[in-house]
Amino acid sequence: MTPRPTIIDCDPGTDDAIALWLAFASPELDVRLVTVVGGNVGLDRTLTNARAIVGLSGKPVPVVGGADRALLGPFADAAYVHGDNGLGGLELPEGPPAAPGLAVDALRAALRAAEPASVTLVGLGPATNLGLLLASEPALAAKLSEIVLMTGALAEGNVTPSAEFNAWNDPEALSIVLGCGAPVTLATLDVTNQALCTPSHIAALRAAGQGACARAAAAIWDSVPPSRRADGLGHEQHDACAIMWLVAPQLFTGRAVHAAMDLGPGPGRGRTVIDRWGRTRQPHNARFLETLDPAGFFDLLIRRLARLP
Ligand code: RIB
Ligand code: CA
Repeated sequence: MTPRPTIIDCDPGTDDAIALWLAFASPELDVRLVTVVGGNVGLDRTLTNARAIVGLSGKPVPVVGGADRALLGPFADAAYVHGDNGLGGLELPEGPPAAPGLAVDALRAALRAAEPASVTLVGLGPATNLGLLLASEPALAAKLSEIVLMTGALAEGNVTPSAEFNAWNDPEALSIVLGCGAPVTLATLDVTNQALCTPSHIAALRAAGQGACARAAAAIWDSVPPSRRADGLGHEQHDACAIMWLVAPQLFTGRAVHAAMDLGPGPGRGRTVIDRWGRTRQPHNARFLETLDPAGFFDLLIRRLARLP
């Protein structure tokens, strides 16, 4: 199996950290670039965190900072979930310096140099960097084999009743990505809510992995407050679902849908309008992931994290 050339855009973020380490531990993926956006916390912290996460893994992957705000306004952070430092208070050793330049330019250079339909692009934060790329050079969508996004919700949001955090923070950017023409897979809250990390998973990770990354992951899992949506039983591993789709798609089911954004100023702003039953008769532009095998998800996630240094 040839590893998929992969680029990950993220806003670390406790669950982004787990997703990045899963990607680095998975032979199915060849992570070539990590780009960073503001979101869970400010860009200064998400960039520091991304450098530290990559550094702890020992992977020689360049990290490039990008947008510190949405296309049309400020980000609203989620420090109440991820802590003021974005990693639940965990202090990691400082990672290698960020590569110079801006995320959108690093993305552009990587895709211009790539073969057609060869690069997998994963979005784990507000889609601002991806929207800037695809709005300024739409032809680069042809270099993408797939875009996988942790974003949105068919049902209830987690920032407003309508909108999930990444979609809500930059709905215009997400709209650009949904309309770019490349195959898009959506890991929305509807599937990530099935990846519920409980104290037994944390104990299993501690038993399985003694390396710095596994120990840091367990400490991060310990730091995240239980989710009200899950009756306090645990917290969702949102971003790792996007990576797990690429690593073990057999753990998921999904269907082709049309997805669009509510860009209005009202209570629906930031909602991903997912047409599950084809009522609008619009052409399909996304794969909507519907179910996940949670046991298989955590078994593989823990085994992969345990492999890391
Ligand atoms: O709504 C969850 C998403 O928003 C995750 O990607 C989390 O890291 C935050 O970015
Ligand atoms: Ca994220």
